[in-house]
Amino acid sequence: MNPVKVGLLGLGTVGGGTVRVLKRNAAEIARRAGRGIEVVHAAARDTSRAHPEDIVGMRITQDPFEVVNDPEVEVVVELMGGYSPARELVLKAIENGKHVVTANKALIATHGNEIFAAAQRKGVTVAFEAAVGGGIPVIKAIREGLAGNTIQWLAGIINGTGNFILTEMRDKGRDFADVLAEAQRLGYAEADPTFDVEGIDAAHKLTILASIAFGIPLQFERVYTEGITKITREDVAYAGELGYRIKHLGIARRASGGIELRVHPTLIPQRRLIANVDGVMNAVLVYGDAVGPTLYYGAGAGAEPTGSAVVADLVDVVRALTSDPENRVPHLAFQPGSLSDLPILPMAEVQTAFYLRLRVADRPGVLAEITRILGSREISIEAILQKETDDASGEATIIILTHGVREGNMMDAIADIEALTTVKAPVVRIRLENLK
Ligand code: HSE
Repeated sequence: MNPVKVGLLGLGTVGGGTVRVLKRNAAEIARRAGRGIEVVHAAARDTSRAHPEDIVGMRITQDPFEVVNDPEVEVVVELMGGYSPARELVLKAIENGKHVVTANKALIATHGNEIFAAAQRKGVTVAFEAAVGGGIPVIKAIREGLAGNTIQWLAGIINGTGNFILTEMRDKGRDFADVLAEAQRLGYAEADPTFDVEGIDAAHKLTILASIAFGIPLQFERVYTEGITKITREDVAYAGELGYRIKHLGIARRASGGIELRVHPTLIPQRRLIANVDGVMNAVLVYGDAVGPTLYYGAGAGAEPTGSAVVADLVDVVRALTSDPENRVPHLAFQPGSLSDLPILPMAEVQTAFYLRLRVADRPGVLAEITRILGSREISIEAILQKETDDASGEATIIILTHGVREGNMMDAIADIEALTTVKAPVVRIRLENLK
């Protein structure tokens, strides 16, 4: 049988990795797919950057629309990233009856509802395994492997750059900017690295995970997003003293009134496996009612790990070429007519524990005032740690860990605490999850 002909949009880090994996493992891939898979036409903005060996046998253009309009191309692989023209190209490819594989999390998280509806109408597949967790097959695991479960929650380290920065700060005391520059050099960081450090990239990925876990539409605009730029070495060290690590987590949880959807720095017990996921590695912990906790770990970025996920999607697409569209795995795991309208909870309604760091005057009764405020807001304390008083200022640092609380109550309590004259600086608060 003739090989399946693929059109590639983007020959950067992931494009190059995908081509190399396809070429090196061509025989194994053909044995799995039942046909060879060949890139025949590729578009790249700057063709001089492509490795000459990678592009042997391909027609190369600078106009990506030439690829999506090429009648010979059966599957379009979009690895350009960004919102536009990626959206227009993917919609055009669908209109032309071509299947699509993409690694573009920003595109799927923000325009996925429109793209999947168009694909549904046309009877084509849009596959996006590489959009979340790089090479980890976590989309497939949740969508297919856990299809018997009601998923209760998931929590993921889903941005390699952020995890790399936090790990290097903790282990080597390196500067934030220095580590970020290294992540950019290694090709892990987004074109705009604020997407990594402010949590936007993780929020894109969480949007996708939550949708396939709970059967809800993609709702990127409803994700609460907080980055890692305010995390200090001091808090990393105090968390360590108390038996916790600070990780930048994406959390989605089924709660009584709706779904929690949030990305923020989080203390987690250091004995949890996921607390030991370091460097650029990613991991997603998924809790299903039948299976209990499951953990998916691997390289979350990089040329060949991400290429591995792109090629797996290509194999899936090729296997499904002869199946009729109604009998394919639904894009978002649940049948398109069966998506739920569960609301996304506002942050004030989220239940979570907290780490608080306070700078206070070291005088009798100060701690009593603080604990009275916490008690009045129904906040129960799990641990308190007072560090030695600074002789020059007469001020002490107090660390408090709380039990789970409604976030709105905590925000009110912090406002009351900050109004005390004995409290000398804004309260530092970082959420804490036990991930039991
Ligand atoms: N910038 C992303 C990361 C790349 O660091 O995880 C993979 O999506």
